[in-house]
Amino acid sequence: MELLLYSIAGIIVIVVIAVSRKSIVAGMEARSDINRENKPGDTEEGIEDITNENIEKTNEQVKIINQIDDLILIVDKFKNIKFFNNSAKKKFGENNLNKHVATLLRVPDLLQNIDLVLLKKESITMDLELSSPSFQFFKVHLFSGPTSYVDDPDSVVLFLKDLTDIIKAQRFKSDFVANVSHELKTPLVSIKGFLETISGHAKDDLEAQKKFIPIMLEQADRMESLIKDLLSLSRIELEEHIQPQDKVNLKEILSNVEDIHQKNLKSFEFKNNIKDDFFIKGDHEKLIEVFSNIIDNSIKYSEKNKKIEVNCGQGNGKVIGDSYTVSIKDNGIGIPTEQLPRITERFFRVDAAKSKKVGGTGLGMAIVKHIVNQHRGELEIKSETQRGTEIKVHFSKF
Ligand SMILES: Nc1ncnc2c1ncn2[C@@H]1O[C@H](COP(=O)(O)OP(=O)(O)OP(=O)(O)O)[C@@H](O)[C@H]1O
Ligand SMILES: [Mg+2]
Repeated sequence: MELLLYSIAGIIVIVVIAVSRKSIVAGMEARSDINRENKPGDTEEGIEDITNENIEKTNEQVKIINQIDDLILIVDKFKNIKFFNNSAKKKFGENNLNKHVATLLRVPDLLQNIDLVLLKKESITMDLELSSPSFQFFKVHLFSGPTSYVDDPDSVVLFLKDLTDIIKAQRFKSDFVANVSHELKTPLVSIKGFLETISGHAKDDLEAQKKFIPIMLEQADRMESLIKDLLSLSRIELEEHIQPQDKVNLKEILSNVEDIHQKNLKSFEFKNNIKDDFFIKGDHEKLIEVFSNIIDNSIKYSEKNKKIEVNCGQGNGKVIGDSYTVSIKDNGIGIPTEQLPRITERFFRVDAAKSKKVGGTGLGMAIVKHIVNQHRGELEIKSETQRGTEIKVHFSKF
């Protein structure tokens, strides 16, 4: 749908350029007609009017072309750049006039297509993918001049529609589907394998059944929690634009989270230091999900008997207005600095094997980020390997 809209917008701009192309051709023809018919004694005013009108039209068109987000380059038959609009200037830099187009876009297919347009005077559309300095994707329309900008029939217009964001989103979606399928397939294959064993050659082997059934249950739990997390993520994404409005108490929420994890927390030196009430605008259940995920990580990624501490106090300007900050600090295995920015990505795990062993799917922090965003809060993650992690969540006061 977005691609379709973009294509329509692209076509409109091409029409503008093509119209200007027609007008220059018409202008040229008009000029030659005038030259032909301008007999001695005729006034020069007619010529001037038409010329001024053309200049005005051209200025208008240049203005439009400079306003659009798409990149426009025009090259001559030597592929030297003779015109580029503001967006192309922003992308490639100011001083590229008269430079060979390959200095900006070293893509053999593009250079070949420019030759084809010059030769056949037909338009061509192609995809252009660049990987350096970062991934970029353009739909490129090439057609032959002359235009109001370059009055040369042996010129080629390169109209580049930047589709990077859309293609990235599409690839993200398909990566996501591939990840989900993989995460669900792994436990399913193992359950199927065990079922085949205990209904086949181990049919009467009570020992084998005793051994395999708990593993199957564990795998089924894993699938259930993955599906639960996925549903939670998609629900939160749908509601992300609606900020929850209930008056909720952070003290109560953290106390509920402590109760939920009480059994596991017994093996740690856990301290909840929140003694006062801290009221914010929020959704009680969703905030329980946030802090439950964070505490669950502290439990999963810390050795037994390590310290896990919860605090709440006045915020430090991370969100607009008066705010409160909740901090959950552990002395666990920590997160390598270079991985920190990826912690809230779906399915991202620092050590997938270790995370899987403790039942992690890599969706917990993605859910946390979305819920915090929905609350118009801020998430701050500090960590040092082998020293521990501190996660702070900032919220505006009620
Ligand atoms: N407190 C922490 N200490 C060390 N590593 C952490 C901590 N919190 C998160 N991580 C790392 O970040 C990754 C992503 O965390 P996230 O909560 O999204 O996934 P998970 O815990 O693996 O799975 P899930 O939360 O879906 O059960 C974890 O796999 C872990 O590598
Ligand atoms: Mg987690």
